[in-house]
Amino acid sequence: MEPGVTAAEIVVDLEAVRHNVRLLRELVAPAALMVVVKADGYGHGAVPVARAARQGGADWLGAATIAEGLELRAAGDTGPILTWLDLPGGERYAEALAADLDVTAYSERELALVAAAAAEAGRVARVQLKVDTGLSRGGCVREDWPGLVAAARAAQDAGRVEVTGVWSHLACADEPAHPATEVQRERLADAVAQADAAGVGPGLRHLANSAGALLWPDVRLDLARVGLASYGLDPAPGHTPAVGLVPAMTVQAPLVLAKRVAAGEGVSYGHTWVADRDTTVGLVPVGYADGVPRHASGRAEVWVAGRRRPIRGRVCMDQFVVDLDGDLPDPGEPVVLFGPGTRGEPTAQEWAEACGTISYEIVSRIGGRLGRRHVGEED
Ligand SMILES: Cc1ncc(COP(=O)(O)O)c(C=O)c1O
Repeated sequence: MEPGVTAAEIVVDLEAVRHNVRLLRELVAPAALMVVVKADGYGHGAVPVARAARQGGADWLGAATIAEGLELRAAGDTGPILTWLDLPGGERYAEALAADLDVTAYSERELALVAAAAAEAGRVARVQLKVDTGLSRGGCVREDWPGLVAAARAAQDAGRVEVTGVWSHLACADEPAHPATEVQRERLADAVAQADAAGVGPGLRHLANSAGALLWPDVRLDLARVGLASYGLDPAPGHTPAVGLVPAMTVQAPLVLAKRVAAGEGVSYGHTWVADRDTTVGLVPVGYADGVPRHASGRAEVWVAGRRRPIRGRVCMDQFVVDLDGDLPDPGEPVVLFGPGTRGEPTAQEWAEACGTISYEIVSRIGGRLGRRHVGEED
């Protein structure tokens, strides 16, 4: 906990990111490591996290949109970057090409747009082909794969594209015995064999997310695309081996007010909690407009003055109330919503469990009016 907390803020420890990335890189070797920094680095700040990830040894960075990839280039990153989710009209492929991003094609249509942008720019586009092996989300359905591969071969022969990878995304890697993972691995191998036979790429073969990288050594292939674990969070709670990841994000705010509440008084909107004894409560100046889930109402805990304190009543738009159990700390006392857990404070994973969600959602949605501060920057 930081002494003298004067504003609600997100503190991101870049040393923790570097530590996690170093550890993950060693774990997945000889596969290469891609650190996924989409969605503003899962709420941690894409640019500083990307820098820390490179310092920790990330071979690749991954982002969903071309705009996110361009933000990394604008900040000075010169290494390999893959993007995989863009607008249907392909409006940004020219910019992606100019910035030397690897883009992903899910269909012949997308590949044609990339090839057209390459022709226009007189360049060779770096493209990866994504096959849907069972998530049924993005990617080329297997029936259309031979057509996509043939189109890639034609674009390659015309000098418009270089296929730098063939990849897919796992559906159930967080469940250690789920049969889908092996099915997906086999389907990707089949798709790679078809690309190979057609004389296309295949470049890097990749399938694993964090859970895949940590729980399924057979799916690490040439490259593991790791997001959540880079931020020190557990992609498969209860199943992940203890490898020493350190959560990088702490969310804290100064206590605004502490006061007495008599037994029988209701607390916050709807009086969903009524004091069962004379107690004291504290007011914390963050709410659902800042990404504190309303589902945390009456469920999650925070750390104040050396102890965990339960949230009482409903989380409001800008504030919530905690039970201080008779204590009356001064205004400004630090309140830690979640952090690495090393000082006794709750973790993002505990908040996720309290709110019936996953830690991905807790960290990527926190924001709103909170400031964000990075510590542990390498000189
Ligand atoms: C295509 C792709 N690869 C990798 C990841 C990283 O996943 P995780 O954060 O579980 O490691 C994501 C994120 O959801 C993704 O969309």
